[in-house]
Amino acid sequence: MLKNNTTLAINGGKPVNKDMIAIHKPYLDDDDSKAVFDIVKSTFVSGDGPACREFEKKLAKYLGVKHVFFTTSCTVALDLAFRIKNFPQGSEVIVPNFTYTSTALGPLYNNLKIRLIDVDPENGNIDTTKLENAINEKTVAISPVDYAGNPADMDIINEIAKKHNLYVVHDTAQSIGASYKGKKTGTLADVSTFSFHGTKNLTTGEGGAIVTDNDKLAKKIIIMREKGTNKHSFLTDNITRGYYEYEDIGNSYVQSNILGALGVTQLEKIDWMNKERAKIADYYIKELSDIPNTKLPKITKDANPNWHLFYILVPPKHKYWILDALRAEGVYSNVHYTPLHRNKFYSHLGNDDDFPGSMKFFSGLLRLPIYPSLTQNEKGCVIKAVKKVLSNKKK
Ligand SMILES: Cc1ncc(COP(=O)(O)O)c(C=O)c1O
Repeated sequence: MLKNNTTLAINGGKPVNKDMIAIHKPYLDDDDSKAVFDIVKSTFVSGDGPACREFEKKLAKYLGVKHVFFTTSCTVALDLAFRIKNFPQGSEVIVPNFTYTSTALGPLYNNLKIRLIDVDPENGNIDTTKLENAINEKTVAISPVDYAGNPADMDIINEIAKKHNLYVVHDTAQSIGASYKGKKTGTLADVSTFSFHGTKNLTTGEGGAIVTDNDKLAKKIIIMREKGTNKHSFLTDNITRGYYEYEDIGNSYVQSNILGALGVTQLEKIDWMNKERAKIADYYIKELSDIPNTKLPKITKDANPNWHLFYILVPPKHKYWILDALRAEGVYSNVHYTPLHRNKFYSHLGNDDDFPGSMKFFSGLLRLPIYPSLTQNEKGCVIKAVKKVLSNKKK
């Protein structure tokens, strides 16, 4: 029997695309390869080297922030963000329920408690209307997250933090290059933490950064990022001769010079890479805006996202069927994150009824491929597959 293109591939029809279109891909070019190769040849491959410091300096200028410290991941940057504060054991940090585990791990590594807060059902960012209710006498900090590279509503969050004298750690893992009211993420909180993991808009394979305008906090980061030693000044000031001091507790969070070089070449093209993502997002939005019962990403007012992820919100009862049907058509769709309380480790912190916004967002969430090297043909296939699957959806 001849199968035509309107029969869904999941039901035995011909798929829109023969091979699977990946959901994310890092953009790495010859400049990146050469930068890595040159550093390997130079033999300076260990941590906090000249290429790392060049990357930090250029990233600070790009963001408009005083201090940038390159780290081995965003997860350790979040650890450092709390380590430098030394809050009393058992103090509480407000963390959105819809986030990656690392946002919660930062406080947990430092013997702090986390209080989960619900998120906006349309974009997964902290629901600021619920923020004041989550604050009590033990609260010391708030950690907003920019889901999908769409900035959290930082003016409201900072205003509430100021009123209650709270520290703000902005988990900007996903939002490099995004802006809010004309300012880049990384400049909107006491400290911010970026990820340069292989899935991120700017990648060094693994990596992250902790950034701040606060000189006092920066001094502590310099020591704690390098196993509690003052090796940074030993490497940079040319005064100490072969000796550096063990000053405090710390961990080994400095990043290799090889990856510093990769950071520099990636940063050179971040605006172009983000623009390519924005073009894809614009195309998806134009093509998918009229589909019944399907919602598109809600962007924070006065924000400019970096389109780290693209998602649609579909009717919850069909979500996993739609996901399977898209994959059968050759379009990799995915679900990420799962609300924290739905994970074994955090399940004691609440149930579905405590987080209606997070559950609503998660229940409909389907992610679609978006990255600079996605071809014209692949973009077209994504849209064709989404339309085909949604118009043939089981009633
Ligand atoms: C919000 C958030 N925070 C932290 C991280 C962890 O980043 P890394 O892998 O660089 O530690 C991620 C990873 O995707 C994330 O999405």
